[in-house]
Amino acid sequence: MTPNPKNWRFCVAPMLDWTDAHCRVFHRSLSRHARLYTEMITTPALVYGRRDFLLRRSHQENPVACQLGGSDPAELAQAARWVEEAGFDEVNLNCGCPSERVQKGSFGACLMLEPKLVADCWKAMREAVDIDVTIKHRIGVDENDSYAFVSDFVGTLYEAGCRVFIVHTRSAWLKGLSPKENREVPPLKREYAARLKKDFPEAVVCINGGIDSVQLAEELIAAGVDGVMVGRAAYQNPWMLTEVDERLFADAHDPVTREAVVEAMTEYIVRTAPEHPQAVRGTARHMLGLLNGLAGAKTWRRTLSDPAAYAAFGVHILEEAYARAGWRDAALREDRFDDDEF
Ligand SMILES: Cc1cc2nc3c(=O)[nH]c(=O)nc-3n(C[C@H](O)[C@H](O)[C@H](O)COP(=O)(O)O)c2cc1C
Repeated sequence: MTPNPKNWRFCVAPMLDWTDAHCRVFHRSLSRHARLYTEMITTPALVYGRRDFLLRRSHQENPVACQLGGSDPAELAQAARWVEEAGFDEVNLNCGCPSERVQKGSFGACLMLEPKLVADCWKAMREAVDIDVTIKHRIGVDENDSYAFVSDFVGTLYEAGCRVFIVHTRSAWLKGLSPKENREVPPLKREYAARLKKDFPEAVVCINGGIDSVQLAEELIAAGVDGVMVGRAAYQNPWMLTEVDERLFADAHDPVTREAVVEAMTEYIVRTAPEHPQAVRGTARHMLGLLNGLAGAKTWRRTLSDPAAYAAFGVHILEEAYARAGWRDAALREDRFDDDEF
């Protein structure tokens, strides 16, 4: 079945240590339509590790994609089955991560040098599951940075049947740059993504790299690609996600308020913490940017980084931080904390 391009109109990027299950619940509280991605999960971790933990997902999160790191078709097919069983809407293969650890496992960006192997991986996953199977890749690797290189890579996968490509429009420099530098130093070549869309009009092309506003997302989509994937900007300035539904999906539901987000996320923490006590800090740490640009933002961040506040307010830490930041009536707060809940 041809994938619906609208599904990739706005995606929040997979980010190791950042887009875990708690973070995705938070992001979902800001946008109903943004497509969310897990952190990369390697196939050996799924085979030998705590699979249930790695694939944990809250029913609130969908649409949500699980990103895999691997290069063994049979292992990836098995992993894709587990991903589908766990309720994800998409399985995505990482062909863009430049870290040395990942290179040693022969997956990530170095896979772009082996398009036939990636095509075999893609086909094995496709045959194993009914959900979408997609690829996230760079535009080049080291000195292989011509348009012909990425277009051959995409072409090989297209022939195998793949129809969704998420393109981080920077090359990966495998030697000499850290993963962080690899997100900043190689120049962005957004024109490559637009050209891929022209050359493969039936494919869904989602552009990634340096997109820092919904305005820019709109411009890039108007210029020809099907969608955008936003990483750091969405994480650091999460409020931008509240613009996505109306501007990119024409869904003008009631505006989200920060207070409602604080309440919804408190409910989530109260529900999750009995089984996973680390959910309190584990959730709050992703929310440091919620008040960015507003009075009280510093107090909010300081409270959410203060061990004494966690000890005193436990699962109600967000409400406390919100009140300290000056955004909630103190009297109401007193009532709420009288109930012996901790
Ligand atoms: C902390 C962090 C972790 C990341 N982890 C992954 C990952 O697990 N898988 C992946 O494909 N990309 C990963 N990336 C790359 C992002 O998905 C994205 O491609 C990159 O940050 C460029 O997009 P941006 O400029 O919008 O941040 C990571 C980026 C960051 C900042």
